[in-house]
Amino acid sequence: MSNSKKILLSGVKPTGRVHIGNYFGAMKQFVELQNEYESYVFIADYHAVTTVQNKEQMSQGIIDVALDYLAIGLDPKKVVLFKQSDLPQVHELNWIFNCITTMPYLMRAHAYKDAEAKNKEINVGIFDYPLLMAADILLQDADVVPVGQDQKQHVEYARDTAQKFNNVFNSEIFKLPEPLILKNVETVPGTDGRKMSKSYGNVIPLFATYEEIKKAVMSIPTDSKGVAEPKDTETNHIYNIHRLLLNNADRQILALKYTNGGLGYKEAKEGLIEALEAFIRPMRERREMLVHDLDTVFDILKAGGQRASMRAEKKMDMVRKAVGVDIY
Ligand code: AMP
Ligand code: TRP
Repeated sequence: MSNSKKILLSGVKPTGRVHIGNYFGAMKQFVELQNEYESYVFIADYHAVTTVQNKEQMSQGIIDVALDYLAIGLDPKKVVLFKQSDLPQVHELNWIFNCITTMPYLMRAHAYKDAEAKNKEINVGIFDYPLLMAADILLQDADVVPVGQDQKQHVEYARDTAQKFNNVFNSEIFKLPEPLILKNVETVPGTDGRKMSKSYGNVIPLFATYEEIKKAVMSIPTDSKGVAEPKDTETNHIYNIHRLLLNNADRQILALKYTNGGLGYKEAKEGLIEALEAFIRPMRERREMLVHDLDTVFDILKAGGQRASMRAEKKMDMVRKAVGVDIY
């Protein structure tokens, strides 16, 4: 990897099957940018402990995300793939960040405010989540962090925290990262039109079987307009998912079919099912092959963990010096 390339870093939590919202919002960019950037892509397993507190579920979740990364086309020769828990330095830095951050500042985080508004029980991990994420990002000197819109604020926290550290300890150790958010897919809608989310039960899994695709698409609610009637595209949940799978020209053709009338919802759903199957099948098949070779997958993660940890250790050396604990 050449040193002149900018650095990309991002991660996905092992909290359940990834869906096409994760893919179009964030993961697709990891694949598309892997040649252009020096890339670090990881499994945010310690972030998931805020909600996943079961050994089997955690281990399986980690393996699943590793398989997902490889199946979507991340090339371990180009990308450093690793799991967060292989980098103890993340927690060391997280603690230092805790000490330079105020409670009111963390209380402004969307995720915390949402949980509080819903009267959920909030553990300290959820509260501190943005600073653990800042440690992930800043330890690797990331220039860009490709994420979905819902993570934008977290990347801003990482920027602020970098600046705060540099000011407090009178150093230039941390770079200020930028979020990379694709304009036209900021938030991928689910089958009910709300944000596609594991917690809403409105997802299309990225590695869905044909039957699962069919079931998800058939569950999309529609209004009572007849086949010939013109149909709106903006409020149309079928179109809003289908458009993600099309290039500009085909997207316009599909939009016209709706707005001109003549395309019924049944036919539209059948079209979406076929488009999803064509898009998902090759990745699903690749994933099925990889499942049989977990040793190779583990070797990739271990090697990636070593590389990422070596970089993190170099950064932490500078941090320890700046903080003043390194006295020898
Ligand atoms: P998570 O599963 O929460 O770790 O999310 C992984 C990535 O997917 C993050 O960058 C999220 O911002 C992104 N993401 C999750 N849901 C959506 C969605 N409905 N639309 C766009 N991006 C999403
Ligand atoms: N918080 C991210 C999510 O929920 C996952 C994550 C953890 C992450 N650390 C990160 C993403 C660092 C990008 C960079 O999706």
